[in-house]
Amino acid sequence: MEFWHNRILVLDFGSQYTQLIARRIREAQVYSQILPCTVPLATILAYRPQGIVLSGGPSSVYEKKAPSVPKELFDQGIPILGICYGMQLVTHLSGGEVAKSKHREYGRADLTIDDHSNLFKGIGEGGSTVVWMSHGDRIERMPPGFRSIAHTVNSPVAAMKRDDHKRRIYCLQFHPEVVHTPEGTQILRNFVYDICGCKPTWTMQSYVNMAVQQIREQVGKERVICALSGGVDSSVAAALTHRAIGDQLTCIFVDNGLLRTGEKEQVKQTFAQQLHLNLRLLDASDSFLAKLKGVIDPERKRKVIGKLFIEQFEAETKKKSGGTKFLVQGTLYPDVIESVSFKGPSATIKTHHNVGGLPARMKLKLIEPLRQLFKDEVRVLGKELGLPDEIVWRHPFPGPGLAIRVLGAVTKERLAILRGAESIFDEEIRAAGLYREIWQSLAVLLPIRTVGVMGDQRTYEHVVALRAVTSLDGMTADWAKIPNDVLGKMSNRIINEVRGVNRVVYDISSKPPATIEWE
Ligand code: XMP
Repeated sequence: MEFWHNRILVLDFGSQYTQLIARRIREAQVYSQILPCTVPLATILAYRPQGIVLSGGPSSVYEKKAPSVPKELFDQGIPILGICYGMQLVTHLSGGEVAKSKHREYGRADLTIDDHSNLFKGIGEGGSTVVWMSHGDRIERMPPGFRSIAHTVNSPVAAMKRDDHKRRIYCLQFHPEVVHTPEGTQILRNFVYDICGCKPTWTMQSYVNMAVQQIREQVGKERVICALSGGVDSSVAAALTHRAIGDQLTCIFVDNGLLRTGEKEQVKQTFAQQLHLNLRLLDASDSFLAKLKGVIDPERKRKVIGKLFIEQFEAETKKKSGGTKFLVQGTLYPDVIESVSFKGPSATIKTHHNVGGLPARMKLKLIEPLRQLFKDEVRVLGKELGLPDEIVWRHPFPGPGLAIRVLGAVTKERLAILRGAESIFDEEIRAAGLYREIWQSLAVLLPIRTVGVMGDQRTYEHVVALRAVTSLDGMTADWAKIPNDVLGKMSNRIINEVRGVNRVVYDISSKPPATIEWE
């Protein structure tokens, strides 16, 4: 049975954890997709889900305009799992009562299971299990036909079910999708396997087969281009498209003079020599540096780089690939969810350029073979396609490159200093075995000089700031706790080996309120 016959729909009511629900289900190798709760019933049914999860959300069911679903959803014979707000909504719509809780429950709670069949099979066998609560409302009276299947000290109905010939509805007051509910993954697995009858068919191998077929159908005999950056997303998208249509694909890599040491060589080695992909390297570093001369403002830098990138790319394509109809883009599922989210797209804090303006201007149709995937799935897919670890596990790198890490004026000399520091930082992170646990690391060249001494000489030289963060998705981040001795070694090496630097500082700010980049 193919994976698309086994799918779970997650209806989003605005919870910060909605994406996590879909990810956990996919980790159980069952395909899962998120839709906003506002979609019509017909859309939900057309999707033909084997099961539906109603997510949590910040609302209260009694508020005016509280998000809801048509009551008829419960009469379709599709198993339903309501989580937190989802549970309250099921209660409200099915004739039960929800009220403000006297004791709000936030954080850890001990859950006692009162029914160890299906949903809680194998859960809390030692007496109780730890779960993560985050709710102000609670179930005062269950709807007819439901019974409680677990409780905590503060919630007599921490989970309930109605499982009869008419309806199969399960509800949890807590969040099984977060890591703070250690047995939550198993609870979700019980739901998708035992209650919905899904099989674990969602694998990256099956995905490759499907995507290859789809790309071939979409493209026919036309020519396709891809702006390769060397980052995980564009690399995997290119490799997958190449698997589907081989030489009909041409990849263009623009050297904008703002790359890190060895980056261009790595792309050449992987894509031209190893994967035998049609690769065009475009050296445009002089044009970029000329246009950036005297530009100090970060947003202006981004605009200049974005515009020039599009011009270069367009010129190169016109010159050598006339008649190209399609552009490959590495859009990921979180971007797609964000744009259809029940809460609406979140505000753009920095203008991220990537290849945003290309398709409209060049009248190209898009191929987005990663549109359904989360980042961790893209990495597995990359391995499946034979990409090396250095690419599959690469830290994110911004489109405007080192231009936004050289604070102030961007010049060849300043870029060279930054590159020197950055490659030592990177080398030492890898040597200390920290590369994978760090989400992103960067060096920043500050626009000031400081006083130092070297030998008997007074120096007046540059300062480099090092930044390394841990994060799940880059939206929030914490500074990485790199051991002191490793930091010491990094600082020593940078000051000794990089001419022009006499001071190194380590950034210990979290995001928010700081951002990951300095500009
Ligand atoms: P911030 O600095 O906003 O960065 O916390 C979050 C993530 O986005 C990357 N970033 C960019 N990526 N173009 C990009 O393609 C940009 O202009 C840009 N600015 C920041 C940043 O490296 C981090 O991964």
